[in-house]
Amino acid sequence: MRHLGVLALFLFLSLIWGQTANGDDGRPTCRRCDLHHACNCSYSGFTRVPMVTDQALSLDLSFNNITMVTQDDLMGHSRLTLLDLHANGLAEIHPSAFDSLWSLEELDLSDNQLTVLNPKWFNKLELLQHLNLLNNPYSFLGSPSLFLGLSELRRLMFGGPDLKELRREDLSGVTHLEELTVNANNLDRYDSGTFGDIWPLGRVTLSLHGPFLTNPALAAAVLNDVCYPETRLTLSDLHLAHYVSVQPFKDSINMIRYLSLRNVSLSDEACVSMLALLDGVPLSSLSIVGLTLTGEGRWVTANRTDLRSMDEFFASDVTILDILKFAMVSELQYLLQYQKKLSIINAKLFLLSCYLTKMMVNTLYLDVSDNLLTDLTLTYMLCDSEETLQELRVLNISGNLLKSLSTLSRLVTKLTKLTQLDVSRTSYNSMPSSCSWPSTLRYLNISRAKLTIVTPCLPKSLEVLDLSYNDLKEFVLTMPILRELHLSGNKFLRLPAGGPYPNLQTLTIQSNTLNAFSLSDLQSYRRLENLEAGHNKFVCSCEFITFLHSQLTGSGDVKITDKHQTYVCDSPLYLQGEAVSQVNLSIIQCQPVLFVSVSCGVALLLGILVAGLLWRCHAFWFLKMTWAWLKAKRSSQRRRRQRNTEGTDPLLSFDAFVSYSEQDASWVENFLVPEMEEPSDSDSENPTSPLTLCLHKRDFLPGHWIMDNIMSAIERSRRTVFVLSENFVQSDWCRYELDFSHFWLFEAGGDTAILILLEPLSKDDVPKRFCKLRKLMSSTTYLEWPQEEERRPEFWRSLRNALRGDNEQEN
Ligand SMILES: *[C@@H]1O[C@H](CO)[C@@H](O)[C@H](O)[C@H]1NC(C)=O
Ligand SMILES: *[C@@H]1O[C@H](CO)[C@@H](O)[C@H](O)[C@H]1NC(C)=O
Ligand SMILES: *[C@@H]1O[C@H](CO)[C@@H](O)[C@H](O)[C@H]1NC(C)=O
Ligand SMILES: *[C@@H]1O[C@H](CO)[C@@H](O)[C@H](O)[C@H]1NC(C)=O
Ligand SMILES: *[C@@H]1O[C@H](CO)[C@@H](O)[C@H](O)[C@H]1NC(C)=O
Ligand SMILES: *[C@@H]1O[C@H](CO)[C@@H](O)[C@H](O)[C@H]1NC(C)=O
Ligand SMILES: *[C@@H]1O[C@H](CO)[C@@H](O)[C@H](O)[C@H]1NC(C)=O
Repeated sequence: MRHLGVLALFLFLSLIWGQTANGDDGRPTCRRCDLHHACNCSYSGFTRVPMVTDQALSLDLSFNNITMVTQDDLMGHSRLTLLDLHANGLAEIHPSAFDSLWSLEELDLSDNQLTVLNPKWFNKLELLQHLNLLNNPYSFLGSPSLFLGLSELRRLMFGGPDLKELRREDLSGVTHLEELTVNANNLDRYDSGTFGDIWPLGRVTLSLHGPFLTNPALAAAVLNDVCYPETRLTLSDLHLAHYVSVQPFKDSINMIRYLSLRNVSLSDEACVSMLALLDGVPLSSLSIVGLTLTGEGRWVTANRTDLRSMDEFFASDVTILDILKFAMVSELQYLLQYQKKLSIINAKLFLLSCYLTKMMVNTLYLDVSDNLLTDLTLTYMLCDSEETLQELRVLNISGNLLKSLSTLSRLVTKLTKLTQLDVSRTSYNSMPSSCSWPSTLRYLNISRAKLTIVTPCLPKSLEVLDLSYNDLKEFVLTMPILRELHLSGNKFLRLPAGGPYPNLQTLTIQSNTLNAFSLSDLQSYRRLENLEAGHNKFVCSCEFITFLHSQLTGSGDVKITDKHQTYVCDSPLYLQGEAVSQVNLSIIQCQPVLFVSVSCGVALLLGILVAGLLWRCHAFWFLKMTWAWLKAKRSSQRRRRQRNTEGTDPLLSFDAFVSYSEQDASWVENFLVPEMEEPSDSDSENPTSPLTLCLHKRDFLPGHWIMDNIMSAIERSRRTVFVLSENFVQSDWCRYELDFSHFWLFEAGGDTAILILLEPLSKDDVPKRFCKLRKLMSSTTYLEWPQEEERRPEFWRSLRNALRGDNEQEN
């Protein structure tokens, strides 16, 4: 018993061991690798680096709880090109943990708990191109430089809330970068020139919140080192409150062409100082995303700021803290008159004055989407019937509070160079029956409005028309040069006919209520190449499925470009939710008529075949015979029972029942009967008593069923004589008789059959199917009717003896 207990414990332990320690030394295993050996083991709660196939090319371990990478954890991964350890709480990495990763090109250690960075980590990573060390609690990079051997490094990200100092030699080894991102919000110390050796620099993103606020000199030093005309500079998290806080730009602003600010707050004072700095600089693109204006918009120096070089101004997500006091309108005109491309998006803008737009003589592109413009303020902005924005090519007023398409069309008609108009996400709910548009208009986006019908208001000059996410059921307009038509998210029941769009190449009609479409539908479009029609309510008929399968496999001229999984059956019910590409309908479902007719045909053919076969095998004959025999047997039994109950003896009234064929009747009547029944006393010394024969012709009771007659004849006769001849074997009757007699043989248990061969007949002459007769012929001796007269008495004697034999014994 104790042994058993120990065994159980052992088994239990080994089970536990087997579950947790599927690796060498208790390391978990991750098998989430795809065909391209990309292993995604993120979000798996690993606390150690899991075992992964050596074949892995990329390994994503982000969002786990791996706090440590040991020397052996990544051993053997010499093929790995990408290792992502982002967000793990990683605190410790063995100095040679990455030593075997010779092929590594991308390493992400961001958002961890690394307090010290060790140059030894990167010693062997000569091919490393992207390195992300952001947001770890180290306060300095350390020397010697981490990056000395990394000559291929092109993207470098480091820093975090704890980064305090950057020293001159910290970045030695870094020569040129496509992208540099430094989070230095709390930087205290920066040695001038630390970034200065890196050139060229493609894109620089700096978070310098603290330095801009408290140490402008430091911020200026950093900016000076990264500003080159070809470098795109992004500064984020700036709080520009005073004159001082914009001074870091003072020296470098002349070098900057592309400036982008993210998450910036700006006071009036800072703005005025900034405008003063921007006066006449070669800045060509200024982009501000996430701008908080804390002042009242009193930018008095604006009329002195020359922004002639600025081609593009982009502002989005603008918040004005004190919107009631804010009054910047008149100053804006000076700032916005030069840009070719002007975007003020999501800025709660409710008015741009006509006065302003009249000054925007250079503007080709104006995007004021996601603001609070109404039909009225739009009328004002576009100067009603007066000329304005004469150079404008693109106007984007999407996401505003616009309701009247006729107002819009009236206003934009005079923009004689307008080619693109985006009025999506507006409240247009009806369309006048006719409108005027600039003849140059090629692109019109009225998606996500509330249109229920379209009318010839839409211009025929369009090449791209987006009407998606409205309430349309129909689209029948002639658009001779239309290339792209977007009708997704409406209520179309079928594809619009292609005739009116001879040049259409792209049609999107997803998320409607299309039941199906067919090849002829597609063929009505002469030049259609791309179709997107997923997320509809497809009725998965056989025709549609076959058609779509061929279309999805790309055999048609039209490519289906959206995801194939989005083509889902809506009906019939048993296919609801199934992706069309996964449905295989059987021929029964698809061609019921064909199926039924073919199967009926096959069944008929089979029937005929079987019947033929049966006929050839004489099955019917056997059946008939069996049936008759069964019936006759029953009545014979009945008779016997009757006799038994009546107590009468089984009367044998005949000596022999003679079974013969009609053709042999003459022989029976002329020879057999006279000889047996009225024996001539030629042989007087041995007088023969007459034998009684039963002949069906003579002794059968008329009116009884013949089978019964035969049966009872056989019953009442001691013997059965078969007169065999060619004729006999051809007669059906004989067969029955033969068979009955055969059964009788079995039942009586005696040797009651006597065969007479009228003509020489060998067993082989008897057809095979008369197997019983054949058997009888081989087991019973038979008498042959001699052709020679002198041998006949001998024959008769033998026959008589045979007929009498048993009788004598019985007596
Ligand atoms: C790994 O999967 C997560 C979701 O589980 C996904 O967010 C991440 O992008 C994937 N990583 C890669 C490299 O595909
Ligand atoms: C992993 O870390 C997350 C948050 O860092 C924590 O909520 C979770 O409990 C940790 N899981 C394990 C298994 O340690
Ligand atoms: C924006 O910058 C401020 C500091 O000026 C910072 O506190 C805040 O977290 C930043 N917001 C975002 C979304 O980055
Ligand atoms: C700018 O506007 C102020 C008044 O607001 C005016 O005194 C000054 O002359 C203007 N300067 C230019 C260059 O127009
Ligand atoms: C108009 O603005 C919206 C939102 O900012 C944008 O999605 C769309 O692409 C713009 N349209 C054009 C034609 O640039
Ligand atoms: C039309 O505007 C919507 C919403 O602004 C945008 O998503 C869509 O891409 C635009 N359509 C085209 C064809 O540019
Ligand atoms: C239909 O056939 C495809 C391959 O031809 C197969 O992948 C799919 O599983 C099949 N779908 C069903 C429901 O049998």
